[in-house]
Amino acid sequence: MDALIRRAGSPDLDRLVALVAACFEPAWSAASIEGALRAREARAYVAQAVGPGGAPARRVEPRSLGTRPAEIARGESADHVGFVLARRILDAVEIDLVGVAPQARRRGLAIRMLEVLLEAERTRGAALAQLELSSGNEAASALYAGLGFVVVGRRPRYYPDGRDALLLSLELR
Ligand SMILES: CC(C)(COP(=O)(O)OP(=O)(O)OC[C@H]1O[C@@H](n2cnc3c(N)ncnc32)[C@H](O)[C@@H]1OP(=O)(O)O)[C@@H](O)C(=O)NCCC(=O)NCCS
Repeated sequence: MDALIRRAGSPDLDRLVALVAACFEPAWSAASIEGALRAREARAYVAQAVGPGGAPARRVEPRSLGTRPAEIARGESADHVGFVLARRILDAVEIDLVGVAPQARRRGLAIRMLEVLLEAERTRGAALAQLELSSGNEAASALYAGLGFVVVGRRPRYYPDGRDALLLSLELR
């Protein structure tokens, strides 16, 4: 499956609500997702699966983060299969939510979306990226470790299931 990575906006809301619900239990509300798309500091991306005849893409070579090319779609005809909801707060990129549709996992989509986000924000002067993660989320832990994130803090029994929250950070400069 080929996929295009591009910035997300309000027209993506309905598809994102469905995709977030497929990735998280409990899911974010539609209002929260809309806020994550519309806020001035919002940095949201989607991955769209593209089959034969799908939206054409313009390739953009990456700079320092990662080796896979970033791709930007001009159309919106393909299925939404992944998303990153993040915010730019001063010199930090706060990564709030990352998800990939179950049928599209382990194909490098999450890493590609994050590389596109981090490279774009590094170019715009961001110094670090940070996020919070459940200690029980092994897939996400491996994903972020592969990108170079390190654990910089822990909130014991932070989540309702008793898991700790891990605070992860990545220097971008
Ligand atoms: C976590 C998640 C976003 C990963 O998406 P993905 O597109 O499948 O991830 P990628 O294919 O880019 O994987 C990159 C690396 O992450 C790690 N990884 C991803 N899924 C993994 C899993 N299930 N088990 C162990 N490692 C995993 C691997 O190191 C992988 O590299 P590899 O495939 O070469 O071994 C996806 O599983 C998901 O949506 N989970 C539910 C929502 C969630 O927990 N989000 C993260 C917290 S916000």
